[in-house]
Amino acid sequence: MKDLKTIRGMPDLYDEEVERISIVEKTCLETFKSFNFQEFRTPVIENKSLFQRSVGESSDIIQKEVYEFEDRNGELLCLRPEGTAGLVRALITNGLMNDEIKKFFYLGPMFRYERPQKGRKRQFFQAGAELIGEESTKSDVEIILLAKTILEKLNIKYTLEINYLGKEDSLNSYRSYLREYLQNFKDELGEKVYSRLQRNPIRLIDSKDSNIQEICKNASDISEFLNNEEKESFKRTIKSLNDLKIEFNVNKKLVRGLDYYTGTVFEFIADGLGAQNAVIGGGRYDNLIKDLGGRDLPAIGFALGIDRLAEIINVAERKKDIFIGSVDDDSINYAQYIGNKLRENIEGLVVENYLGNANVAKQLKKADSQGFKFVMIVGQEEQNTKSFKLKNLNDGTENTLGEEELVEFLNGR
Ligand code: HAM
Repeated sequence: MKDLKTIRGMPDLYDEEVERISIVEKTCLETFKSFNFQEFRTPVIENKSLFQRSVGESSDIIQKEVYEFEDRNGELLCLRPEGTAGLVRALITNGLMNDEIKKFFYLGPMFRYERPQKGRKRQFFQAGAELIGEESTKSDVEIILLAKTILEKLNIKYTLEINYLGKEDSLNSYRSYLREYLQNFKDELGEKVYSRLQRNPIRLIDSKDSNIQEICKNASDISEFLNNEEKESFKRTIKSLNDLKIEFNVNKKLVRGLDYYTGTVFEFIADGLGAQNAVIGGGRYDNLIKDLGGRDLPAIGFALGIDRLAEIINVAERKKDIFIGSVDDDSINYAQYIGNKLRENIEGLVVENYLGNANVAKQLKKADSQGFKFVMIVGQEEQNTKSFKLKNLNDGTENTLGEEELVEFLNGR
């Protein structure tokens, strides 16, 4: 029955898991909008070459995590592993490249062929924000503030780690330095790891492998390769964060796994997720738009793992308001009429119109076990008198109410 199994790392989502995910999505949406970011939706499938040119040929994502396939026309496509490249592609494709500062957000599924574990899936959901067209520290701060606000609204305890990678020249000299540094450890590393690190030496810095960490211990940090302008720019970002009383640690080992980063990079780390504790990652990508064929516009953004956050938020038990049962099939229509009248008049009221065949005693039990606060049963008598016996299942009190009184009573629930 293989065909009835879900694909590894791509679970079905239901019950509490979906509720948690919805809470995170709703908080992201509200916060993005409150910072005046506009929604952008790009396709889930793109040309693989888009990610080769942006995320980078030597990145883990391109090396081993992309879900790629040829379509019926022989085009090499893939499921998007992240959202930034698609958004930048869309800005270029749609001619949305004037000098105005642009603020966009997106939410949706991303796909990476990684080893599934707590906080890591092969289909996962990201919410991301991208601020295009502003190079200064002001945009670093705006993006970090936005990310931080989402975590605070979700009551997540976090630490913010930041670092500064510099532009192309500094990064290239750092890469050359690391390549040379690595030569001393060729035998220790073995041919395969050695050549992988030679291809993308910056991965040496944030490797999770203890052998590599040991080797990297005495290597210089990127900070030693920054020019004065870059050092000043990082200082300005740090000063602004301090001025705004945003707490952070400078983590010189934070280099991020995608090749498009230049300048400020950051991650928000949260407890309760084990090894996969980065809930938000982002940074500047001032060359990406130009490199993909667009204008020379600076940009900064982040993406957060919706599933990761959903695992660690505290959720209050969902509030269910009223269960409306019925004595017999003939009363169901009227029960539905009453249910809908309540929904129309009371915003957010959760009303269950019971449609099954259980007897009245069993219906009362269901209302209780499913966590409803109120229950009422509709029969011929209620239809004739237009009055209802409403029971509060929390404290056992009962009220007899007419239609309008019922609306009024539940409005003040
Ligand atoms: P990223 O660090 O690769 O950055 O991913 C951002 C966040 O997505 C991570 O911090 C994590 O919470 C979540 N995430 C990543 N992989 C998985 C997975 N396999 N399962 C569950 N959650 C995952 C980016 O994707 C960049 N596009 C962020 C960015 C936007 N930089 C600039 N703008």
